[in-house]
Amino acid sequence: MNKQVASLMNEQINKELYSAYLYLDIANYYADVGLNGFENWFFVQAQEERDHAMLFRTYLLNNDEKITLTAVAEPGQVYADYLAPLKLTLAHEQTVTASINNIYSVAAEAKDFRAMQFLDWFVKEQGEEEKNATDLIRKFELFGGDAKGLYLLDQELGARVYAAPSLVL
Ligand code: FEO
Repeated sequence: MNKQVASLMNEQINKELYSAYLYLDIANYYADVGLNGFENWFFVQAQEERDHAMLFRTYLLNNDEKITLTAVAEPGQVYADYLAPLKLTLAHEQTVTASINNIYSVAAEAKDFRAMQFLDWFVKEQGEEEKNATDLIRKFELFGGDAKGLYLLDQELGARVYAAPSLVL
C-alpha cells in the first residue's frame, strides 16, 4: 500500500487510543460527581475508540505493514462544569474528522482505492460522532440546568450499551 497512507494510519492508531483515553477521563470525571449515566455513555465511547484503533491496526497488518506504537498523551483536562466535557467532545471529534479526511485525501491522491474504501466507514462514522456530540450538548443545554431534567438525562445516557463496530475486516 501507499507508504504515506500507511504512516498516517499508524498515527491514527495513536489518535484513536488518545480518544479512548480522553473519554475514559471524562467517564471518570462524571463518576466522581455521581452522574453515572454520563459516566456510562463515555465509558462506552472509550470502548468504541479502542475499536477504531484496532480497525486501523488490522487494516495495516492485513496489508503487510509494520506498526509502531507510540506514547499516548495524558488527557490532563480540568472540567469547569458538567457541560465542559461535552463541548470538548465535539471539538475533539472535529479534529478527528479532519485527521480522517486528511488520510482520505492522501489516499485519493495516491490512488490507493483500497484504503479509500476502508476509510469510507470512518468518514460516515465521524458524521455520526459529531452528530452525537452536538445532540448531547443540545440536550444538556435544554434540560441539564434543572435537577429533575439532569436526573432524567443521566438515566437516558445510562441506557447506552456497547456494540461492536459494524465494520469487520
Ligand atoms: Fe474514533 Fe470518535 O472517532
